[in-house]
Amino acid sequence: MKVLLVGSGGREHVLAWKLSQSKKLKQLYCAPGNPGTAQHGKNIDIADTDIDGLVKFAVEKKVDLAIIGPEDPLAAGIVDALNKEGIKAFGPTGDAAALEGDKAFSKKLMQDNAIPTAEAQVFENFEDAKTYIASRDSGLVVKAAGLAKGKGVYVIDDPAEAILIAEKILNDGLFGEAGNKIVVEEKLLGQEASILAFVDGRNIYVMESAQDHKPIGEGDTGLNTGGMGAYTPAPIVTEKLLDQIQREVLVPTIDGLNRIGAPYRGILYAGLMMTAGGPKVLEFNVRFGDPEAQPILMRLQSDLLDVMLAVCDGTLDQQTLKWDPRPAVCVVMSSGGYPEDYEKGKVITGIEEAEALGDVKVFHAGTKEDNGNIVTSGGRVLGVTAVGNTVKEAQARAYEACEKIHFDGAYYRKDIADKAIK
Ligand code: AMP
Ligand code: GLY
Repeated sequence: MKVLLVGSGGREHVLAWKLSQSKKLKQLYCAPGNPGTAQHGKNIDIADTDIDGLVKFAVEKKVDLAIIGPEDPLAAGIVDALNKEGIKAFGPTGDAAALEGDKAFSKKLMQDNAIPTAEAQVFENFEDAKTYIASRDSGLVVKAAGLAKGKGVYVIDDPAEAILIAEKILNDGLFGEAGNKIVVEEKLLGQEASILAFVDGRNIYVMESAQDHKPIGEGDTGLNTGGMGAYTPAPIVTEKLLDQIQREVLVPTIDGLNRIGAPYRGILYAGLMMTAGGPKVLEFNVRFGDPEAQPILMRLQSDLLDVMLAVCDGTLDQQTLKWDPRPAVCVVMSSGGYPEDYEKGKVITGIEEAEALGDVKVFHAGTKEDNGNIVTSGGRVLGVTAVGNTVKEAQARAYEACEKIHFDGAYYRKDIADKAIK
């Protein structure tokens, strides 16, 4: 089969690596890809948001399947555009991708289907938002409704500050059109977990739980990032909780989408808060998480291409997936300064030495090739991922691997997966 993989991050490298293990794969194209995906396929210089360009390429090359990694092209309807040209595509249609692309839509779907989530109100007008926020006396969360690269969410204890943020988003265009609407919701307390599932419109296959680490600093301090590390499984999500999440969250979400004529196919990712009152949805994503995909897919032993085709064909119930029972931990190495300003172009050494440890894979994210060297080109640079017999062993191996890798200004959190060990 000929496959086109869209995206260029660590998620796309692990997808390319996993797909390349399929006997069915004849040719992999990655648009635009990175030096990691180039180890497994041919990188094509088309941006992941250039829908016309991607569709044209897929038609020209007669690709059998397009796999969409990131949320922006999904929300913009790339799957609809590909399907229209007769190209099979892995990922939800634009309507269904609104689950991530429009937090107001997503909240309404949850409210209509009694899916446990934070109480919330949606505002387009600042004066209304102000009146509502001023009437609240507990912690609040203000969210831009559209896609804002994970930066559009503010967890705030002081209502006066929440009013200022609401004004910046609604009146001052802080996030452009993504901030035409805001969702103001109650602040939930608890530990977070990510549950990812393959969904084929009807059938749901839940993968093992994972936990991300969003803030830049150890002990979850400092600014939020795209994610500084992840591990799987997350011991906080017991079998019983996983059943509850499937029953109370995943099934009614898929049913609710079917009822409004937006059947869901692809990866459904529920970001959850494990509150004293049970699991509640913080957000939905319509794709693999980055960096959750790295440790989760490192444990997948089945053919990913088969599973993805089954999702597109509505035959997921005929698939049995095999997983490595051992836990996996991914530590993200980032450029010094990230998520604020950072320098690029630093030469990276030691990747081979790290992988030589065994049970270690180093996934590229913000890297590029430059005169035969691999250099840094983004904030999150590498996802150093290891499996081990226990979380502790996987963690120790991941950190041993990080110590072998060098670039100027390299930074990583030293406490990834500590929560699973305590
Ligand atoms: P979101 O993109 O909506 O998942 O929000 C990003 C992060 O903000 C989450 O991973 C949580 O850490 C935090 N967050 C979002 N909503 C809430 C909430 N209602 N209560 C507490 N924290 C939240
Ligand atoms: N790791 C969180 C996300 O991919 O949105």
